Amino acid sequence: MLTNKEMRERDLAHIWHPCSQMKDYESLPFIPIKSGKGPYLFDFDGKRYLDAISSWWVNLFGHANPYINERIKAQVDTLEHVIFAGFTHEPAIRLAERLVTLTPDKLQKLFFADNGSSAIEIALKMSFQYYKNGGEVRDIFISLENSYHGETMGALAVGDVALYKEIYNEILIKTVQAKSPALVGSDEALDSMERLLQEYEGRVSAVVIEPLVQCAGGMAMYDASYISDLKALCEVYGVFLIADEIAVGFGRTGTMFACEQADIVPDFLCLSKGITGGYLPLSVVMTSDEVYNAFYCDYSEGKSFLDSHSYTGNALGCIAANATLDIFENERILDANLVKIDILGALLQRFEALPNVLETRQRGMIAAVELKGYRPEERIGLQIYRYALAHGVLLRPLGNVVYFMPPYIVTEEQLTEMTDVAYEAIKSLI
Ligand SMILES: Cc1ncc(COP(=O)(O)O)c(C=O)c1O
Repeated sequence: MLTNKEMRERDLAHIWHPCSQMKDYESLPFIPIKSGKGPYLFDFDGKRYLDAISSWWVNLFGHANPYINERIKAQVDTLEHVIFAGFTHEPAIRLAERLVTLTPDKLQKLFFADNGSSAIEIALKMSFQYYKNGGEVRDIFISLENSYHGETMGALAVGDVALYKEIYNEILIKTVQAKSPALVGSDEALDSMERLLQEYEGRVSAVVIEPLVQCAGGMAMYDASYISDLKALCEVYGVFLIADEIAVGFGRTGTMFACEQADIVPDFLCLSKGITGGYLPLSVVMTSDEVYNAFYCDYSEGKSFLDSHSYTGNALGCIAANATLDIFENERILDANLVKIDILGALLQRFEALPNVLETRQRGMIAAVELKGYRPEERIGLQIYRYALAHGVLLRPLGNVVYFMPPYIVTEEQLTEMTDVAYEAIKSLI
């Protein structure tokens, strides 16, 4: 029988884990997972963990979901993958048709990639090249303070979480950050955005935002009205708006896509994470016919969008995404989530009374508890992470922010369990 200990030793001999100081694993060993079922993960020693963060915000309908499993199994025997330049397949076509139906009419075209950061790179490159194809070089992107868009160089450059970005500052593309509505309120944030749009007029190809929730930036939330006003500003100054719904898409904020709440249509919509129900790496960038047509001409004109990844449009990823959309439709997930959203909101309330809690906040199926009075060096989040794991719950606080982003199959009992453990963890720090 394999044990946690043996798996850790074999892993550590060769594997360098993401988003980790490997030395930390000397004092807080990582957990070798043997299997998953619904919202639970099981390690090699038989211990069970409730996945309160949907395994980095990707899992929507539980681990080893029987329906998604069945669909993937059938696809494996038919076609696992095919080069997507010069070829196509039914799962990709079907997925594209469905996403076009689910999103506003203007978004008629869809470009595939295989992770969130790549989708951001594609949206940045497409918006830059759109102008270049028309003879203009627009060399600046505007994003928001406290934003996060991924780890590849372009995505890092538009991001603003110093922890991930600062080290690479010297080698990043040109971007500027406007104030975040989540930190200073909508009015000040819009003023700051407008000043930048004026200062760099003619040089900006796109503004990129995470609609409604800056997730990696501590689950910082803001009003939909900011997004509507921002879209209007982008139109006045003639720049594209890229909506990074990689984390908030697919029902996270209560609606299928967060932009719906602002009643706007972005020029580029980036989707990933939940798109496959948390099964396989896949992302898409959706855009308009107008953008598409700016690249459509004879090859000799040199205007083609030549971006590609080997696994673009992977058939297994696409079938998992189709299965995910089936579940949304067949089980009326957005309606069913309304009840869970209320339960989560009610469970959040008692945190407010704790003296080390600054505030609680919620947007749909994302709930957060921000702590106060701790310095970053204290790594309070790590202490809570450790406490929760010992009590069978996977939480992964972002600095001083403890949050819940459960899979949608979570029950009231499981929501209670995860918030109870978080409450006790936070209380134990007092
Ligand atoms: C808003 C947002 N954009 C982009 C990304 C990057 O996605 P990926 O990790 O798949 O590259 C993330 C990942 O957390 C994200 O939250």
